[in-house]
Amino acid sequence: MEKIVALCKRRGFIFQSSEIYGGINGFWDYGPAGAELKRNIRDAWWNDVVRTRTDVVGIDGTIITHPRVWEASGHVESFTDPMVDCKKCKGRWRADQLPNTKCPEGGTHEYTEARKFNLMFKTNVGPVEDTGSVAYLRPETAQVIFAQFQNVLSVSRQKIPFGIAQIGKAFRNEINPRNFTFRSREFEQMELEFFIKPGTDADWHERWVKERLKWYESIGLPATALSCYTYKKEELAHYASACVDVMFAFPFGVQELEGIAARGNFDLSQHQKFSGKSMEYFDDETKEKYIPHVVEPSAGVDRIALALICSAYAEEEIAPGDTRIVMRFAPRIAPVKVAVFPLLRNKPPLLEKAQEVFRLLQPHFTTEWDDRGNIGKRYRYQDEQGTPWCVTIDFDTLGEKGLELKDTVTLRDRDTMKQDRVRISELVPLISRRLRG
Ligand code: GAP
Repeated sequence: MEKIVALCKRRGFIFQSSEIYGGINGFWDYGPAGAELKRNIRDAWWNDVVRTRTDVVGIDGTIITHPRVWEASGHVESFTDPMVDCKKCKGRWRADQLPNTKCPEGGTHEYTEARKFNLMFKTNVGPVEDTGSVAYLRPETAQVIFAQFQNVLSVSRQKIPFGIAQIGKAFRNEINPRNFTFRSREFEQMELEFFIKPGTDADWHERWVKERLKWYESIGLPATALSCYTYKKEELAHYASACVDVMFAFPFGVQELEGIAARGNFDLSQHQKFSGKSMEYFDDETKEKYIPHVVEPSAGVDRIALALICSAYAEEEIAPGDTRIVMRFAPRIAPVKVAVFPLLRNKPPLLEKAQEVFRLLQPHFTTEWDDRGNIGKRYRYQDEQGTPWCVTIDFDTLGEKGLELKDTVTLRDRDTMKQDRVRISELVPLISRRLRG
């Protein structure tokens, strides 16, 4: 992990939040490469789960909601972790995640009794700080979807079975943020609530587990690093009939990327009870009235980004004593698709031609310009960022060495390091084809 964390900082994937002030535990900023990577993950999910389906619509809800939302959902009462302190060193942990280290004050840690700690961040809405103004930063995006179920149903012309999806920030005051971004206090979720007819739960749950596993492979996570954990009956929440976690083999262990739960009608029933508003659905074909059940695939953008980074990282000896670091992202997910280099920066005709190529590519792909240092170093930089293709404009491009290669460039492949001579006019269709795989 140390090498990966160092690369994330060096190549602008992930920085410690507020680093100049010593950082703040559990919060992370994404640099230029990380911001593109996250955007590609969100876009891939939104495209595959919402846009290309006819039975899912999206919403974009608020981070702060009416506090009753979290009373209804059970979060105010029971979204807690058991917390213990060491009486000697004052260290604080989740009771189920105790450290296997010695106490810095000597001997073993001396723990207090475990007590419940609510993970929701509290705030006050408006100028008066009293109990009536208390609100919470949402600890999941899901409840915003449930609270808007009837509005979305009435505007979207959907019929059960159908889903409502949302991508957005969630906040949890984790007792022990750890494993880099894996467990953070501010993170982003991509959640789908797929509403179904009661009795069809097992079938839809199985379909979504298969669908979601396929999706992880489509963004470049190898099947060999993915697995499923199926909850035993006694591990399920009282209202749930099934839950499967999609797991990934991180360097620090096999851990959850996404949970796919069949939650019955618990959430809608609770909101009906607390709001007094009907959450029922009327099936105009069968004339039945019921509160829909739900299957919920719930994924974390930051965990997926970390899994992709861990999976992409490779060290490769390309000559004796010469090792390159290369991030082998699937092109679809790579932060930058193409980098454009003029061979030399002090030759105006080369710069002009390279600018022309850059302007040609930029509307089609995330394209980066680099004219600093020698070409070898520029390739290495792009390898560490995971850029699948580099285009170099040289004297052949200008036709200075004969007309045969005029208006051609070298297209260098990140993985094979092979360089092909390609006509400029062929670049967009060729890269588009390769991007589509
Ligand atoms: N609505 C269901 C729900 O929120 P969850 O298992 O608590 O379920 C879903 O969270 C996903 O959100 C997790 O699989 C993970 O990817 C992400 N996630 C949860 N807590 C996180 C944290 N502290 N840091 C980063 N990601 C987190």
